[in-house]
Amino acid sequence: MKIAILPGDGIGPEIMKQAVKVLNVLGERFELETADVGGAGYAGHGHPLPASTLALARAADAVLFGAVGDYKYDSLERSLRPEQAILGLRKELALFANLRPAILYPELAGASTLKPEVVSGLDILIIRELTGDIYFGKPRGVRECPDGPFKGEREGFDTMRYAESEIRRIAHVAFQAAQKRDRRVTSVDKANVLETFQFWRDIVTDVHKEYPDIELDHMYVDNAAMQLVRAPKKFDVLVTGNMFGDILSDCAAMLTGSIGMLPSASLDANNKGLYEPSHGSAPDIAGKGIANPLATILSAAMMLRFSLGRPEQAERIETAVKAVLAQGLRTADIYEPGTTRVGTDEMGDAVVKALA
Ligand code: IPM
Ligand code: MN
Repeated sequence: MKIAILPGDGIGPEIMKQAVKVLNVLGERFELETADVGGAGYAGHGHPLPASTLALARAADAVLFGAVGDYKYDSLERSLRPEQAILGLRKELALFANLRPAILYPELAGASTLKPEVVSGLDILIIRELTGDIYFGKPRGVRECPDGPFKGEREGFDTMRYAESEIRRIAHVAFQAAQKRDRRVTSVDKANVLETFQFWRDIVTDVHKEYPDIELDHMYVDNAAMQLVRAPKKFDVLVTGNMFGDILSDCAAMLTGSIGMLPSASLDANNKGLYEPSHGSAPDIAGKGIANPLATILSAAMMLRFSLGRPEQAERIETAVKAVLAQGLRTADIYEPGTTRVGTDEMGDAVVKALA
């Protein structure tokens, strides 16, 4: 089993080191190969997604990704910015299905900004379409405005679009995920305003006919944002487009107290996947040894489950993470008085120890 290890920038290398430690003590024969990506890709090879990194990702059975981005690359032209690495990998590897679970560990109920009764026991799954929508739609750019009251001025523009098959395949992923959970899907759209999302609603409704065992409801994205902070436990699986999913998944992540806890999986049609923490590269705390490695470690667990056919190893890791939390160990982002503050390395070591 070949795993591409792409640490990236900021806290990426520190947290990835912990996940690699964990992979190495599972007693499996993994072939781990590391490559530069993001700012590190640009610095070392002149491009955020170097050809050699993409080739490695293609050849691997799965990709474990840290995080990309740093202030020092903010002034580069868009095509060279670190974010292009992750967008490029998603597109090139056709990773259209992004699974972002938001689970509240009971030990962390106090770390949420919401009242414990609103979030305790929270277990929702956001499924974000990842290779379409306004993120990739063309045409896009800056041009002279062709008509209307601003005719002749410069304007920026992007294109929101979804092909029928793109909507169908993500809807299938959502309904099938719900079959393994509470059998409820909420499709989030903006059908009251956008043609693209009226079409989305129609297609999701049609695919639903194949899943009579699943309860489907539709919700406008603004209401979904509100319900996520008002009564998040009402949801089971949420499925939505790329842009709405980007926004709602950050919101859902924060319900759990820390985005530092949440893994994610981005899958293609054959369950080959890229696994990454839901958080970013946090350049402000990079190199300080205080970042929370648990989201990356839990991403490795998702990788074992979805792409590598090792669900029992995934469970071992998840159990070890729970054990470490139960021991009261906390990185700074989830620290509360009465718990023990540890650094990135210590947290990784604690998970390794709990696995033994
Ligand atoms: C995410 C990130 C990315 C996105 C950025 C870094 C391109 O915010 O994975 O949610 O917008 O998809
Ligand atoms: Mn995001």
